[in-house]
Amino acid sequence: MAYAIVNGKLMDRSEAKVDIEDRGYQFGDGVYEVIRVYNGKLFTLKEHLARFEKSLASIRINLPFSTQELTEMIKQLIEKNNLHTGIIYMQITRGASPRNHAFPSEVVSPCLTAYTKEMPRPLAKLKSGVNTILAEDIRWLRCDIKSLNLLANILAKQKAGENNCYEAIQHRGQDVTEGSSSNIFMVKNGVVITHPSNELILKGITKDVILQHCRNLSIPVEERVFSLKELTAADEVFLSSTTSEVMPVIEISGSTVSDGQPGTVTRKLQQAFEQEIVSQCGNLIESTLA
Ligand code: PDD
Repeated sequence: MAYAIVNGKLMDRSEAKVDIEDRGYQFGDGVYEVIRVYNGKLFTLKEHLARFEKSLASIRINLPFSTQELTEMIKQLIEKNNLHTGIIYMQITRGASPRNHAFPSEVVSPCLTAYTKEMPRPLAKLKSGVNTILAEDIRWLRCDIKSLNLLANILAKQKAGENNCYEAIQHRGQDVTEGSSSNIFMVKNGVVITHPSNELILKGITKDVILQHCRNLSIPVEERVFSLKELTAADEVFLSSTTSEVMPVIEISGSTVSDGQPGTVTRKLQQAFEQEIVSQCGNLIESTLA
């Protein structure tokens, strides 16, 4: 039997239900996190919980549990579901209340839901690299909040899929922001360049791990806005996310990146990222480097 958490309670997943007037369902009034699990162990848990709490504070929802309680619940769910390699998805909404845009005037308890999903590492793609497509970034101006409102991201990802691409690289005018569900990096003359973590992008946990490893490896980093023109002239491009790790990008809107092969800096960072997984979660069955 698979288990899920609803309102802080562990239950049979097939019985997990939310109210039709839940504000997450009606308005997207809530926030979420996706955390990677390798070998049954949570990767970068502390960072994900910190971002979750920051997102909640940004939209003025009080977490109805302590970080400690939340951690215990998540760990219990992984154990109960016997999850080896996959993800845990969790979200909190403002709760159920008669439909009205403004916050409910009565006291409403926020609704926490969580479930797990088996998801292997995308090893073949990590080795070969992926194709991408450009998409205008039409999102709001608080993309730093990991909000349930993902319509623009969905439209961008759908455009990617319809064009046989793995991801859409979003841009505001000439400025590259981030992927529909990932952060974007380019490498030029040995320097790793990525958009600063401000209100126009999500501060990726994977992005931060990568930047830390760049520092450890003495790879120069520039966190600055870069243009579409710079992107198309890059030596290497890669994207990052909890599920995609350090993913080489070999094509953008039909043009190959450099020679169309994953680059050496990207490979080095993939290696460092795998070492980080091993140090937090134990040995991996398969490596991208094999
Ligand atoms: N997406 N930017 C956006 C818009 C994202 O949705 C994500 C993650 C990231 C990368 O963040 P992180 O490295 O913390 O996963 C950047 C998750 C995985 C998702 O929605 O499924």
